[in-house]
Amino acid sequence: MQILVYNTPQEWATAAAEQVQGVLSSKPRPVLMLPTGSTPIALYAELVRRYQAGELSMAHALSFNLDEYVGLSIDDDQSYHYFMRHHLFDHVDIRPENTHLPDPTLPPDEACRAYNALYDQYGPADIALLGLGHNGHIGFNEPGTPFTNRTAVIPLSASTLEANGRLFGDRTDMPTSALSVGPSMILESRRVLMLVKGQDKASILKTILTHPVTEDIPGTVLQRHPDLVVIADTAAASLL
Ligand code: F6R
Repeated sequence: MQILVYNTPQEWATAAAEQVQGVLSSKPRPVLMLPTGSTPIALYAELVRRYQAGELSMAHALSFNLDEYVGLSIDDDQSYHYFMRHHLFDHVDIRPENTHLPDPTLPPDEACRAYNALYDQYGPADIALLGLGHNGHIGFNEPGTPFTNRTAVIPLSASTLEANGRLFGDRTDMPTSALSVGPSMILESRRVLMLVKGQDKASILKTILTHPVTEDIPGTVLQRHPDLVVIADTAAASLL
């Protein structure tokens, strides 16, 4: 495991972008697993900046997102389809047909089967980028999710509904379940990059790296990955 700690938001974003660029430049057909949420926004902005400066291309890359809400249209501004277009896909040269997210317009079980079939065809990911939930979730694998899961329908926990509900104008509009790539698919990735920022993540970051591995704290499973890289800011790393 490597733990890399940065003082400023720009140093943090540069370090994360370097990791992605390293994979993009080392493979003819790199496969990226991508998160949404507030944490990766600065990384995506740095990737867009590099593309616009002619320093980076994603034309040969494939992406698989970690998750999507059940029941939102892909044009809903709270959907992860929308998020990815808004923050990354519309501003770089990745081909739209090479970007994949679980399909919230299919019946959920069918969406999981379809996503697993696609991933089996193109995966595993060369690099899986993850954010970290306050309850230790990775992707939307909430506490108690079996580590053996592949893509599955996950009921969202009270803590996630609370954390993400603020983004929905009316909290009752927030879906109560999500489609998420399972821990087994994350673990298969060649490298895992844990992106973490802020004092509010310090305690859970320490927990997932030091607590005995348990499905009650999904992020602890990352201790089993042979190539885990943590990119943290000083606040998130303050308890390590
Ligand atoms: C989202 C995802 C989630 C988030 C986590 C942290 O695709 O996989 O696990 O990474 O909820 O969210 P932020 O970054 O908003 O704190």
